[in-house]
Amino acid sequence: MIKLLKVCVILLIIVGVVGLAMLFSLLLKTREPLPEIDLRYRDARLPTEERIDALIQSMSIEEKIAQMALVEKNSLSLEDSARYGVGGILSGAGAKPETNTKEGWREMVESYEAATRAARLGIPALYGADAVHGHGNVPGATIFPHMIGLGAADNTMLTRKVARATGEELAATGIYWSYSPTLDLPQDIRWGRVYEAFSDDPLRTAALGAAYVDGLEDARVMATPKHYLGAGAMEWNTSSNENYKIDQGTTRADLEHLESYLAPFKSAIDAGARSVMAGLASWGDEKMSASPFLLTETLKERLGFTGFIVSDWYAVYEIPGSKYDAAVTAINAGIDMVMLPFEYQDFIRNGATAVRSGDIREARIDDAVRRILRTKFELGLFDGRTPHNLEVVGSVENRLLAREAVAASTVILKNTARALPLRSADQHIRIAGSAADNVGIQAGAWTVEWQGIDGNWLPGATSILQGIREVVPQGTEIEYEMDAQFSDGRIADVGIAFVGEKPYAEGWGDRELPTLSVEDLAAIGRLKQSTRRVIVVLITGRPLIITDDLASWDALAVAWLPGSEGAGVADILFGRVKPSGTLPLPWPRSTAALPLGLDQSTADGSQLLYRRDAGLTF
Ligand code: BGC
Repeated sequence: MIKLLKVCVILLIIVGVVGLAMLFSLLLKTREPLPEIDLRYRDARLPTEERIDALIQSMSIEEKIAQMALVEKNSLSLEDSARYGVGGILSGAGAKPETNTKEGWREMVESYEAATRAARLGIPALYGADAVHGHGNVPGATIFPHMIGLGAADNTMLTRKVARATGEELAATGIYWSYSPTLDLPQDIRWGRVYEAFSDDPLRTAALGAAYVDGLEDARVMATPKHYLGAGAMEWNTSSNENYKIDQGTTRADLEHLESYLAPFKSAIDAGARSVMAGLASWGDEKMSASPFLLTETLKERLGFTGFIVSDWYAVYEIPGSKYDAAVTAINAGIDMVMLPFEYQDFIRNGATAVRSGDIREARIDDAVRRILRTKFELGLFDGRTPHNLEVVGSVENRLLAREAVAASTVILKNTARALPLRSADQHIRIAGSAADNVGIQAGAWTVEWQGIDGNWLPGATSILQGIREVVPQGTEIEYEMDAQFSDGRIADVGIAFVGEKPYAEGWGDRELPTLSVEDLAAIGRLKQSTRRVIVVLITGRPLIITDDLASWDALAVAWLPGSEGAGVADILFGRVKPSGTLPLPWPRSTAALPLGLDQSTADGSQLLYRRDAGLTF
């Protein structure tokens, strides 16, 4: 018995000593001397790959992991961005400077960049923002139509110009990285992100997506096609977020989805996209950021993507398991930069431990860091790039381009007895509806705030009503009452109702039954009583269920979410520009038809109200 006890004690001592030795060696390792700095990476005359080699050799494991961290600017002090040498910083929607002007933005971005330059290796942070319809974060910037409008315009030249102008406004504030374009294929109009996509048609999306990448590149701004992969095919009621219904839901993992959803990404990569965002949806039962098949085998190996893959907001920690395990899974699956977006210290600590313990091979980390650094070199961040002139933000030229894009994106779906365009005989026009005189509504979400804004306070913007007043022939009487309470007993020649949706972003816009509001329907009803003919213009991010009301409208136009230049809508209504927009996605009669097939089939076999590509002209 005593002998047994002795053996046990000896065993315990051995285990203890070995354990202590391991711990000690780990501690020693974390304090290992920093690698010597190979200054060749600063030499702009050397080939980029040689500079990258020199820099990677100079980096400690912690410095490498820090390059892979994308941190939200509100959670990061200037001191910490320098202390840790954080690789990426983002302004998620609404993360603005104290002084929310273009000058304030530039100062904020430059101060973070300068801080990271002051770190040991001086690797500038890559600052990113969601310029999804112009540099919408900045009051006074040009707000272009949301992507669904560009999808309706279906014009690659125009899309390229819009993206270029967006890139120039972004670059003027010191930002060279945009989280756009969205290449999702929305198959269910109940989803709150339909308007962020061009179309549900892979071909239209592929062409416009590539044009958008080209346009940003024209301004030397890096595009980020998103949300890889399968976003738009999620099934209703599968969201992993308890507040949402379909956003962040599950897509069936089959070959048909794979090939259709991949096509636009392939085209964007061929156009030179250097970063791709992996989305928040699940592919079958796997979170996107955890899929070696989709990230490494498909995107990097099959499509030959040499840029970096960034995960979406907190997406890595949506992977089941501890934060350590989630990060290990995602990085091993192929994620290169992790939009944390908060706890960077933990991430750096965990990442370094994972490399030292062999849970992640250092070669994988080097590959990720190489991909990230390459873009920084290519964007000129190491070589003193100077931002564009701030005057380009909200410039007259860009606003004119946006106005052109608005007109090009407006789709005419019904025009009985040539109700449109308005003519000089239309001497008395009545205007109503919640969206007639509200720039916030016509701009939609991702405008200054994540969920958008209300009212007409954006500098330089024009509401649709103001736009009408600008273009209307002299002598025409224009009356406006939002709720159409015109009570003088007169009958006007024509009434125009601008009705639609209030802004929403992401899953907050998931709606079981997307319809017009009771107030807007009532306004249309009243307008009918005090006018000879009624034209309804929808300001909406998606097709709405209007089947029962449509018959009583003389004309129907869809202006989507046009942005800051409301006069573009007036240009169409008054016949100053010939309508050319077509529906970028099919329009169902009821929600029983959902989800729609990419071949325009309906779930219940019903006829569509309008097919994709519908659109009249005059
Ligand atoms: C969205 C992305 C966006 C990111 C950063 C996420 O919630 O899904 O589209 O780029 O936030 O703002």
